[in-house]
Amino acid sequence: MTAPELRRRSAAWFGATGKQGFLHRAVQRMMGLPDHVFDGRPIIGICNTWSELNPCNGQLRDLAEHVKHGVWEAGGVPLEFPVTSLGEDTMRPTTMLFRNLASMDVEESIRGNPLDGVVLLAGCDKTTPALLMGAASVDLPTLLISAGPMLTGRFRGLPVGASDAWRLSEDLRIGKISARDVLEAECGINRSFGTCQTMGTASTMACLSEVLGITLPQNAAIPAVDSRRSALAHLSGINAVRLVHENKRLSHFLSREAFENAIRVCAAIGGSTNAVIHLQAIVGRVGVSLGLAEWDRLGREIPCIVDLQPTGRFLMEEFYDAGGLPAVMRILCEAGLIHGQCPSVNGLSVAENCAQSPIWRPDVIRSLEDPVAEQGGVAILYGNLAPSGAVIKSSAATKKLLRHKGRAIVFDSVEQYNQRIDDPDLDVDEDSVLVLKNCGPKGYPGMPEVGNMGLPPKLLSRGVRDMVRVSDARMSGTAYGTVVLHVSPEAAIGGPLAFVEEGDLIDLDVPGRKLSLLVDEAELAARRSRWSAPASPSPAGYARLFFDHVTQADRGCDFDFLIGKRTNLEERASY
Ligand code: FES
Repeated sequence: MTAPELRRRSAAWFGATGKQGFLHRAVQRMMGLPDHVFDGRPIIGICNTWSELNPCNGQLRDLAEHVKHGVWEAGGVPLEFPVTSLGEDTMRPTTMLFRNLASMDVEESIRGNPLDGVVLLAGCDKTTPALLMGAASVDLPTLLISAGPMLTGRFRGLPVGASDAWRLSEDLRIGKISARDVLEAECGINRSFGTCQTMGTASTMACLSEVLGITLPQNAAIPAVDSRRSALAHLSGINAVRLVHENKRLSHFLSREAFENAIRVCAAIGGSTNAVIHLQAIVGRVGVSLGLAEWDRLGREIPCIVDLQPTGRFLMEEFYDAGGLPAVMRILCEAGLIHGQCPSVNGLSVAENCAQSPIWRPDVIRSLEDPVAEQGGVAILYGNLAPSGAVIKSSAATKKLLRHKGRAIVFDSVEQYNQRIDDPDLDVDEDSVLVLKNCGPKGYPGMPEVGNMGLPPKLLSRGVRDMVRVSDARMSGTAYGTVVLHVSPEAAIGGPLAFVEEGDLIDLDVPGRKLSLLVDEAELAARRSRWSAPASPSPAGYARLFFDHVTQADRGCDFDFLIGKRTNLEERASY
């Protein structure tokens, strides 16, 4: 015997009698909907981040149509709606300034409308966390589809991906290649709609969404323009209707165990450091207790087994051909490193979903015994320079720099870095530590991806390709190097980073998880007494709201007033 169906949320709109029901149904009939669709069947919102200002998500307009086919087939009614889209490479000053704004748009668009379930269409870096954060705060039955990675780029007969942009721009700075060469690469690197082809932030967030069980299997890696992604969208529409019938809300999937799975898989795929901030924000929305230190504890012993840029060699198209994320999940499941009982949106457990997942390319998906890097996880550093933590992706760093002591070259802002870095008289050598301040959540504001500062040309021309860099900024998931990020508390609120001066010694000890400023406490206290907090960079508007309410990196940079779930705010009707 099946349980009696709950009264649908949308019935408060379309099932109402009198003037209210009349107006709600009448306005929706403009879509050409016949009588019978108002009989109480599930209304599925398709929350779309398609935008011509964000071509990474350019495939989503087409995918939405496939979702609709699936929803209709399963007896639901699809209603697509647009939300803010954040184009990573285009938006200024940084998309991170707007992630929380987009999450508010998503949350209130879902809450304010007659929806029983939601399909989230996301892709480019911030769109996935923004949609998940907003949807988590409403907590309806929800499923996510990623835009999918773009096709492998081509340049002079060779494959290229987003990480190559960093290498090419450094080669251009030292005159190794010409502007014409770069133009040729520019035309071939992005051959289709879709997200960056490396294991950058977009691919990492797509993978972690799949691990969390809120996408269908293989969502992360099917190329954006592959017909198999259209089929996945169709099936996602069917499953969204089923989730509503079973009243399986987002919180059903977003458990502590599911987040632990995500942290472990993030290590195994060599995922982006940005995933730490985004997952911490989502964790805050669903009310799971998971501190920053857990990233180190859970990910520390997990080797990176996926040979993808920026840690390794290959790109997302090859990852899909190799077996995709289910193959990685199977390896971890069989080693007992995954909570296999966690549910997923297709009704199977994550263990069941990956049980029959072969590896077709062992050069791309390696084994735990023969990994790409022994420790794939994000290391969390503490010390007198980062009392609330800092992160480093050790698998993308130079091994011999993981223990390093060096003299600080200090930049108070990005602008000061840009002015000084090309100066041939800059007193810097390969043992120096580049320090960048005031690029944290409040300091910039918005915490831009500038932590992987380009090296001084005079060292690049001598063949130096990596140095220790320390900042309160983030870095692109496509970037690499010995880069300490997210130093918290940030300089702009008086974190110890604010008091680093040129020539101070900094001690980085990644195996010991320490980041220390070798300046005695009395001297630091004297510097602190001379320091005054910067004013808000904007007296009004959204930037002011951001400055006043953004939390530090260890709490995911969410707004303090958005943390948690909010339900039943929609019960009052205006007519
Ligand atoms: Fe959009 Fe990389 S710039 S996914």
